[in-house]
Amino acid sequence: MHILVTGGAGYIGSHTCVVLLEAGHEVSVLDNLCNSSAEALRRVEAITGRSLRFVEGDIRDPAKLAQALEGGVEAVIHFAALKAVGESCEQPLAYFDNNISGTIALMQAMEAKGVPRLVFSSSATVYGEAKTNPVDEQAPLSVTNPYGRTKLVMEQLIGDWSASQSGASAVLLRYFNPVGAHPSGRIGEDPQGEPNNLMPYVAQVAVGRRERLRVYGNDYPTPDGTGVRDYIHVMDLARAHVRAVEYAAGNRGCRAFNLGTGRGYSVLEVITAFEEATGRLVPYDIEARRPGDVAALTADPSLAQVELGWRAELDIAAMCEDAWRWQSGNPEGYA
Ligand code: NAD
Ligand code: WQD
Repeated sequence: MHILVTGGAGYIGSHTCVVLLEAGHEVSVLDNLCNSSAEALRRVEAITGRSLRFVEGDIRDPAKLAQALEGGVEAVIHFAALKAVGESCEQPLAYFDNNISGTIALMQAMEAKGVPRLVFSSSATVYGEAKTNPVDEQAPLSVTNPYGRTKLVMEQLIGDWSASQSGASAVLLRYFNPVGAHPSGRIGEDPQGEPNNLMPYVAQVAVGRRERLRVYGNDYPTPDGTGVRDYIHVMDLARAHVRAVEYAAGNRGCRAFNLGTGRGYSVLEVITAFEEATGRLVPYDIEARRPGDVAALTADPSLAQVELGWRAELDIAAMCEDAWRWQSGNPEGYA
């Protein structure tokens, strides 16, 4: 298939481009590089020995979208979005505009060109404060911040739009906590400024770029008191997108799937796993809870196994080893 990947220069997008190219698909990327570097795409090409088409531009720009959808694009994988929870509380309108208006513009362009398949980057954030774990796709949906609201609204808009188009199909992929990097260490997560997320922070402490990790709370109702999450290797996630786009080609309608391992790790367990996998120490201090954090969130990923024939294969040791190979080989990211 010829697949347009919006946000393809970003963290998850670049890894997905590798797997798509290796699976023999033709890939076009539309990205405005607001949170990424074109160097990631050059490295995707070096890893795979294949080339992709890159259109630099914004998903809210109809001319760029039309250009990106040229050449017989048959499906879109839509990663392009702003994703920082804290920033979304300070600038909700920027998030509504970029994420929601951008997704509407994308659907309009797809409809105009007759492109029927859409795979969408959703998030476990749509489960809000889950009452029980693990969560399956039937769990009630709610939001705790403007970023999460954009994901929930986009899921609903995509559902309505795909229902209105005969022959259209949409797959909503709800990622839990993506971590790790390509095993080559040549592409990986490159957060701008101070990382918000645990694994890049841990890796930056280990490489000496940050002094100590702040562990946000050890008084949660979890076995060791620190927050529990379902970390998923970005290469497993990337493989799921290939399955999802193939599923969309054979199934109409709109379906949501959890993408996680089904196994939770606490913050302290992640630190220990990282130290064991890398031989590096990760000094930390216990601090107050981070506002908005939930105690635990883990996936029931069984629907993806049944319907997509996908399940996570890489364990926490591989997640830490690969995150470290990327971080130690590229201490300043792509810079
Ligand atoms: P990322 O920031 O690395 O990638 C997003 C890419 O989209 C970047 O390359 C950015 O430049 C591009 N982009 C943003 N707005 C754009 C616009 N208006 N036009 C064109 N390009 C634009 O983030 P990521 O971690 O790779 O996340 C990819 C997707 O997965 C996002 O939709 C995110 O919300 C979702 N997601 C991420 C996580 C996570 O923890 N990383 C978890 C759940 C869901
Ligand atoms: C994991 C655990 C923290 C940093 C976020 C978004 C979510 C999704 C994935 C996009 C928690 C603790 C963290 C640190 C810490 N993104 N922590 N010290 O919060 O589960 O999810 O990213 O859709 O929407 O909210 O991930 O990696 O930030 O935190 O102790 O410096 O690590 O409290 O328990 P989170 P995270």
